[in-house]
Amino acid sequence: MPDSVMPALQQTLFSGYIGEGPRVAQFERALADWLAVPDVVTVNSGTSALHLALHLAGVGPGDEVISSPQTCVATHTPVVALGGRMVWADIDPWTGNISAADVAAKCSERTKAIIAVHWGGYPCDLAELAAIAHTRGIALIEDAAHALGSRYQGLRIGAHGDFVCFSFQAIKLLTTVDGGALVCKSREMDARARRLRWFGLDRHYMANDECRWDQDLDEAGYKFHMNDVAATIGLEQLNYLDANLARHQANAAHFDAALHGFRHIRPLLRSPDRSSAHWLYTVRVKQRQAFFEHMRDAGIACSRVHVRNDRYRAFGINADESALSGVARFDAEQISIPCGWWIGDAERRQIVQALQQFEAVL
Ligand SMILES: Cc1ncc(COP(=O)(O)O)c(C=O)c1O
Repeated sequence: MPDSVMPALQQTLFSGYIGEGPRVAQFERALADWLAVPDVVTVNSGTSALHLALHLAGVGPGDEVISSPQTCVATHTPVVALGGRMVWADIDPWTGNISAADVAAKCSERTKAIIAVHWGGYPCDLAELAAIAHTRGIALIEDAAHALGSRYQGLRIGAHGDFVCFSFQAIKLLTTVDGGALVCKSREMDARARRLRWFGLDRHYMANDECRWDQDLDEAGYKFHMNDVAATIGLEQLNYLDANLARHQANAAHFDAALHGFRHIRPLLRSPDRSSAHWLYTVRVKQRQAFFEHMRDAGIACSRVHVRNDRYRAFGINADESALSGVARFDAEQISIPCGWWIGDAERRQIVQALQQFEAVL
């Protein structure tokens, strides 16, 4: 958290207005400009953004939602909360992202939405997924919790899917402590999302008197809105986003070069039509436990970050894991090394040295 957040925060905290107000509107404008999209609906978490997107896509009891098990549980808890059912699609084991071919094979009459999680920030095959979704009248929801600043075919993630969900949780590239944002492709959905995030009411409604509650509530919503305190932090964080993003990407490029020719520690695929924000730098290592211990002993924290969701009872356990061979390969070998903006040149040297030592010993 930059020191420079304090004066702005102090001003908001003692302004007499800390709920959803002018700072939220200002943060939404600045974020929309940064993403180069018409508008952004901020909320109190990435999970809330996903919940709103699924609600707006019409997911209800008995409906199927196709997604990759390789993600945070937050991608799927809202599906279950709305009464939907998970249908698991396989992933490309060299990106961690959902396979469009398997999505096409898993679509049914009951499919209401496809969720595309951009693993570590690396964009999914959005053109193929959009074609599948739109020929069948299904919504494409992007879980872009890792992908703030990623690009696909020249445009920042946010500009593609029907619904794009971002997270500003504590350890994300931009944090509001907790928070999130939803970008809706359609203006009508954007307007509905604004009402649904505040119970289903129009927050700007003013009749002839002071009471904005005196309006009809025709669709019950949620209490998902962002507040001015979080938005003040977000506005300040935006000033550092370009530099932080550049450092994530520079660190990743440095590791890509350092790992060139390695046989035991293998980076993921990169395609020229897209770039990752590199919230994560994931590698595949067959001897993952030994790698984890080696890195830990060198003082470097590594993590799997997320584990496959089709082993959780709440989502309906996948009885045939072998049918998802890409997930099996990725899940067995994937691990992420530190690559964030806080990794300076000295830390980078330390990490590369540890990687070289591991490769040399095997
Ligand atoms: C892939 C993914 N989706 C969704 C979320 C949920 O975001 P939040 O923690 O802001 O609710 C996360 C959070 O960490 C995530 O990693």
